[in-house]
Amino acid sequence: MGSSAGTRRAKTAFVAVVRAMSRRAVRVLPALGIGAGILAAISIGLSGSEPLQAQSGYTFTGVASCAGSTCHGRSEGNGAIVRQDEIATWQSPSAVSGAHSRAFNVLQDRRGRQIVASLGYSGQDEAENCYGCHATFAPVSQRGPKFQLDDGVGCESCHGASIGWLESHYEIQGTHANNVANGLTPLDQPQARARVCLDCHYGSTERGQFVTHAMMAAGHPRITFELDLFSAFQQHHDVDEDYVQRKGRPDSVRLWAVGQAEAVARATDLFARPAYGTEGVFPQLYFYDCHSCHRPITDGEERRLTFETNPGRPITFGQPPFNDENIIMLNAVADTLAPGRADSFRNSARAFHSSMNQGRAEAQQAAIALRQEALALSQALSSRSYGGNAAFTVVERIGSNATAPRFTDYAGSVQAVMAVDTLLNAMVSDGRVTVGAAAGIRASINRAYDAVTSPESYRPVAFRTALREATSAIGRLQ
Ligand code: HEC
Ligand code: HEC
Ligand code: HEC
Ligand code: HEC
Repeated sequence: MGSSAGTRRAKTAFVAVVRAMSRRAVRVLPALGIGAGILAAISIGLSGSEPLQAQSGYTFTGVASCAGSTCHGRSEGNGAIVRQDEIATWQSPSAVSGAHSRAFNVLQDRRGRQIVASLGYSGQDEAENCYGCHATFAPVSQRGPKFQLDDGVGCESCHGASIGWLESHYEIQGTHANNVANGLTPLDQPQARARVCLDCHYGSTERGQFVTHAMMAAGHPRITFELDLFSAFQQHHDVDEDYVQRKGRPDSVRLWAVGQAEAVARATDLFARPAYGTEGVFPQLYFYDCHSCHRPITDGEERRLTFETNPGRPITFGQPPFNDENIIMLNAVADTLAPGRADSFRNSARAFHSSMNQGRAEAQQAAIALRQEALALSQALSSRSYGGNAAFTVVERIGSNATAPRFTDYAGSVQAVMAVDTLLNAMVSDGRVTVGAAAGIRASINRAYDAVTSPESYRPVAFRTALREATSAIGRLQ
């Protein structure tokens, strides 16, 4: 993989955090197709009325259709236009980049079985509620002869159902625009990519793409996401000359910023929908900051508060806050990169938080209003040009007194470290900071990662100190 030294180091720090966050077990999986018989048998049992059968008139051709040795199945990434070893990266048995190929199989692991058992799911319930994110969950009528559910999150989950472009996308005269017209998802476009990833790395209204607090209480890990960093972790392409010619030069700051805006838009969209936003008399707790409720309480002579009030959230003392990790980031982005929209975004965000003290109807209206602001920012951020000092200004803003006091909670703090990490990598890839200089301040970033290794040991004051140290170290590189 053509990742920079900076990215590799980031990966190590990030993986440590992810490991701590959800103690994942790494297993060696059989090579593509081998052992599929057994798994297919399991899935037939689990998918109830949906037998795995080849259909005519299908649109999803399956991973095996991409796996030819003259296509994406090479063992070395030495293809002329694209690497052609994309399958190997996607299928890596132990690396983070192989997570998607393992996604279906993790459902069969102990933790997966425990979640399903605790929820009392039938095979059909499991298919309806879990497969949407852990597989390319195409309707049975859309599955071609080579399609296998147990391939997990396959190529077509991200690149789009391929029947319309499979045959033509490698023709000499084929163009990206033609492929897109034939149904290829334009993942080079930040908004399009963000929406694809968020479907599973946050949730969507599509079948089986929503994690509830009930699932989390049953053992599902919390979901953490940042578009630019996570894109790097699963990257299976090189940004070389011909890539830039075909698709333009990607910009990490843009990707990161649009990712924040789309995440806010997605969260508020789902929250505003009654079927997702509420659970009986309660709001759906998935949307709220997990650790605001999951904290120990102690009785004694002196009261002991385990939480801090947050200047960005005008809510009643002791109320669970909406998880605003992306809202905080987007505020910093708007202040620096879209100042004309900053005040209205900030006001809508405050109004959204305070609507939580009013009632469901008010919160719903405020969510819809905030979503509009986020979408407008997404548009502005994807169409503006970057360069200059964009990354430096945003990092500075994240560490500044305007933003830092809002890091009172674990989720927002994790998001902030990922931002600083990703923006430093952007400075390196733009040639604004040398690899050596970035390596020199790696220790500061790692201390910020250390401060969020686990929600149990998270202390806001210590975190803010570590973060400030990291952002000032980056500032000195300018
Ligand atoms: C909205 C999409 C979504 C839905 C729905 C969903 N998951 Fe997940 N699941 C994820 C993501 C994303 C991760 C990785 C979380 C992370 O580490 O950031 C994950 C992780 C897991 C893991 C841990 C895997 C590991 O590597 O340790 C298990 C087990 C799991 N899910 C089971 C389930 C089960 C069972 C269901 C249905 C009850 C389900 N999931 C529904 C998105 C989803
Ligand atoms: C999790 C989402 C995801 C999955 C799964 C995925 N890709 Fe990708 N892929 C991307 C993204 C994002 C890019 C980079 C953006 C772009 O250039 O389109 C990319 C880029 C590529 C490229 C380079 C495109 C170019 O123009 O240079 C190829 C080839 C590719 N993927 C093939 C595959 C194959 C084959 C599979 C299945 C083994 C696969 N991808 C699975 C998201 C995904
Ligand atoms: C169809 C659902 C789906 C889509 C779309 C999807 N992912 Fe994932 N992704 C998952 C699941 C489920 C896991 C966890 C699998 C596991 O634990 O083995 C995961 C894991 C990952 C991981 C490994 C880190 C971790 O937390 O386990 C990265 C990195 C990642 N995804 C990036 C992306 C990016 C970037 C995109 C968009 C280009 C994307 N994903 C799109 C479902 C999806
Ligand atoms: C408004 C308060 C609140 C919020 C916010 C909240 N939870 Fe919970 N959670 C509860 C309650 C109440 C239970 C029921 C079990 C209990 O009595 O502890 C619970 C149970 C759980 C359990 C099982 C605990 C156990 O001891 O077995 C887990 C795990 C969990 N929640 C995770 C999460 C995650 C992850 C989030 C954030 C996405 C979250 N919770 C957000 C109140 C909350």
